[in-house]
Amino acid sequence: MSSGSTRHRVAVIGGDGIGPEVCAEALKVVTAAGVDLEVTDFDLGAARYLRDGSVLPDDVLAELRTFDAILLGAVGPPVGDTSVPPGTLERGLLLRLRFELDLYVNLRPFAGVPGSIAAGADFVVIRENTEGTYAGEGGFLRKGTAAEVATQGSVNTRMGVERCVRFAFELAGRRPDHHLTLVHKTNVLTFAGDLWSRTVTEVATEYPDITWDYNHVDAACIYLVDQPARYDVIVTDNLFGDILTDLAGVISGGIGFAASANLNPARTGPSLFEPVHGAAHDIAGQGIANPLAAIHSAALMLQHLGEGDAAERILGALSVQTNDMSNPDFPNSNEQLSTTAVGDAIAERL
Ligand code: NAD
Ligand code: IPM
Ligand code: MN
Repeated sequence: MSSGSTRHRVAVIGGDGIGPEVCAEALKVVTAAGVDLEVTDFDLGAARYLRDGSVLPDDVLAELRTFDAILLGAVGPPVGDTSVPPGTLERGLLLRLRFELDLYVNLRPFAGVPGSIAAGADFVVIRENTEGTYAGEGGFLRKGTAAEVATQGSVNTRMGVERCVRFAFELAGRRPDHHLTLVHKTNVLTFAGDLWSRTVTEVATEYPDITWDYNHVDAACIYLVDQPARYDVIVTDNLFGDILTDLAGVISGGIGFAASANLNPARTGPSLFEPVHGAAHDIAGQGIANPLAAIHSAALMLQHLGEGDAAERILGALSVQTNDMSNPDFPNSNEQLSTTAVGDAIAERL
C-alpha cells in the first residue's frame, strides 16, 4: 500500500558493529509499509576512519544537510579498542551532527513490554541534546605531568534549556496524563540545576493544565525501577538523559527495544533517527541483534516526514511482535529469533 506520492530522501549511516544489520531491517520494514524512500548510504564510522582518517568531512556534512532525514545505526569502536581514539567517532560524527544540525531534542519513548519491570508503563524522555557536559567545554593543563588538571564543564544556556523544556511541556499537553517531571541534581549542581528549575517553574505557568514535579536523578533511578508508571514526560539534561535512557530501555524489555529521534523542531534541516543502543561489537555479525529499536526509530522518522499512517501501522505491527517475543510461551522467544527473522515478521504483518 503506497501512502502517497511524496518521495523522501533519506541518508543512511549504518556505521559500526550491529549498526548496518539493524538499519537493514528498519529499511526493509519501511519499504514493506509502502513508503517511497530514496536512500543514500554514507560510508562513515570506524572502517572509514581507519581507512582514510575521515570522520565527517565538511562536504559530507553539507550534503547531509540536503536530505529530508538521516537514519543512523550506531558508531563507535569496541570498548577498549584504541585503534580509534575514544570520542573520535562519538564526538566527531554523532555529536557533531547533533550540534551542527541543531537537533536540540532527543526524544526517547518507552513502553514496558509484558513481563518487563516497566510492563504497562508508558513514558517519554526528552533529553536536551546540544549542551551540558556534552558541549565539549574544558581541557587539560600540564597534561601528562603529576600536576595534571582536566576539566569538563557543563554548558547550560537559558535559550537551550528553555526550548527543550517548552518542547517537553507541549508534548505533555498532547499525552493523556498531562504530567511532566524535571530530573536533575539541583542539590549538588546548584548553578545548572538552578537555571533548569527556574526555567521549568516559569514555563509551567504557561501550561496550567499540566502537572509537574521534580526528582533528583539518583532518586529517579530508584523510581524508574520500582514505580515506572509514575512517569509521563521526563525532561532532563544531556548526560542524565543518556544514562537514564539506557536504564529505561533495560526495564522496558531490553536496550534492543529503545528508539530515539534527534529532532530539529524548527525544521531548519534534517532530523536524525537512531536506536538508543550502540554498536554492540560483542554481538555484531552473529545475526542476533534486536532490530526493534531501529525499526521503531524508523517509524519515528516516518512520523516526522508526515507519513503518520505508515508509522502507525509499523508501530502496531511492532507492538504485536513485541508482545509475542516477550511471551515465554511464544514458540520463537527473543533469543531464538534472528535479526532478519524479526524484520521479516514485522514486514509480513504490514
Ligand atoms: P552498546 O549499547 O553497544 O552495548 C551494550 C550492551 O547492550 C552489549 O552487551 C550489547 O550486546 C547489548 N546490545 C546493544 N544493542 C543491542 C541490540 N540491538 N540487541 C541486543 N543486544 C544489544 O554499548 P557499549 O558497548 O558501551 O558501546 C559500544 C560502542 O558503541 C562504543 O564505541 C560506544 O561509544 C558506541 N555507542 C554508540 C552509540 C550510537 O551510535 N548512538 C550509542 C551508544 C554507544
Ligand atoms: C547515545 C550514545 C551517545 C551519547 C554517544 C555515542 C555519543 O550513548 O546516543 O545515547 O552519549 O549521547
Ligand atoms: Mn547512550
